[in-house]
Amino acid sequence: MKSETVTITDNSTGKTIECPIHKGTYGAPVIDTASLYKELGMFTIDPGFTTTASCRSAITYLDGEQGVLLHRGYPIEQLANESSFLEVSYLLLHGELPTATEFVEYENQIKNYNNVHEHLMRFFNGYRYDAHPMSIMVGVTGAMASFYHETTNVKNSEDRMRIAHRLIAKMPNIGSKVYKHGIGEPFIYPDNSLGYIENLMNMMFAVPSQPFELHPKAVAALDQLMILHADHEQNASTSTVRLAGSSEANPLAAISAGISTLWGKAHGGANEAVLEMLEEIGDVKNIPKFIARAKDKEDSYRLMGFGHRVYKNFDPRATIISKACHEVLDDMDQNSELRPLMQIAMELEKIALEDEYFIQRKLYPNVDFYSGIILRALSIPTNMFTVFFAMARSAGWIANWLEMMEDPDFRIGRPRQLYIGSERRDYVAMDKRG
Ligand code: ACO
Repeated sequence: MKSETVTITDNSTGKTIECPIHKGTYGAPVIDTASLYKELGMFTIDPGFTTTASCRSAITYLDGEQGVLLHRGYPIEQLANESSFLEVSYLLLHGELPTATEFVEYENQIKNYNNVHEHLMRFFNGYRYDAHPMSIMVGVTGAMASFYHETTNVKNSEDRMRIAHRLIAKMPNIGSKVYKHGIGEPFIYPDNSLGYIENLMNMMFAVPSQPFELHPKAVAALDQLMILHADHEQNASTSTVRLAGSSEANPLAAISAGISTLWGKAHGGANEAVLEMLEEIGDVKNIPKFIARAKDKEDSYRLMGFGHRVYKNFDPRATIISKACHEVLDDMDQNSELRPLMQIAMELEKIALEDEYFIQRKLYPNVDFYSGIILRALSIPTNMFTVFFAMARSAGWIANWLEMMEDPDFRIGRPRQLYIGSERRDYVAMDKRG
């Protein structure tokens, strides 16, 4: 049918091909250009992959115009308010919400795997005390691949699911050790009487010499934050995990590659950059100066936590988290050092949302604009923010890796290029070069 294809004509030769159009459950239809090179000898180019679907996926759907985010069909608003991060991780990996029995089994399996090999602990000692936590995450997660390399056959579905569960189980352990290394406190082992998020907080904040009291509101806030960061379609880090994993590399090595990508401030590093920005602004009266800088074409300065490649209306995660952010702050001591920062954040949000520059470019606050404030309110140091993002996004990364490995169209990712270098030329001996 004509409406099911797009006709591409090479005007220089008059040769025409029909490219099929694929329609998903939702979203823009996709033109299948796989035959383009074979038929017309051409590639497509799309810097930043702004209009390129890299795969078929049944995990997450997002509509940037409408501000919709679904995981396995379930709206993020429902998951964030009614589920838990552990349950969402099950949903991402297994495709369905667990029954009560399935959830208990899953939780037990995660508890069973939540320790790391004692030898892995030695890797932390190689890092300076002030090493950036994300560099330790990259290294230690990559190192963890060596502990499960022989036992992980990426062609075996049971091995694949086992390594996925291991990853979900061990990330809080690694993330909390990264923190403990930086502050020089002893590592705390997991406590299986605690839930997933409680365990994470206990491993981070407890010390062996005295009991640590967990605040249910803090646990709930962190749980929700982790849900909001669990997956987000084919973003830069998830695409990295897929590409690295497509060579059949060890999945934990692929996850380490994803952590590297997440580190950048255009991606996961943004929540850290938001807090730094708010501190740099320092006072509400300085906001106009920073807004002017962000709008100045000659200045590369950007307002951190504003804008998103896909959300051009609003980021639904930002709507949820902004509410949570206010709740956490309402509970907070009136003299909290966070109040002035929050005041700057709220004023910045208001001014930017009314400014023509931001309106025209559809630049709205994204999830990172608020997540940093919540993490700071939970006493989590700024340079650890992206580590929390990495722990949460591990669920989405490994779900995407599982899906890719099971895809009947699975093959190594190998993009092509438009070569713009020199034409062929002959080597000139050094003494003959002008
Ligand atoms: N502050 C000021 N101007 C901005 C901002 C910003 N934060 N973001 C985009 N713009 C402007 C650009 O200068 C450009 O203007 P122009 O059309 O006059 O040249 C226009 O808006 C479009 O920007 P692009 O860079 O083309 O948008 P892109 O989709 O490539 O970038 C990105 C998206 C990287 C998120 C960008 O908005 C940004 O750098 N934001 C700040 C960092 C941030 O918050 N990152 C977190 C992303 S969410 C996440 O990873 C969970």
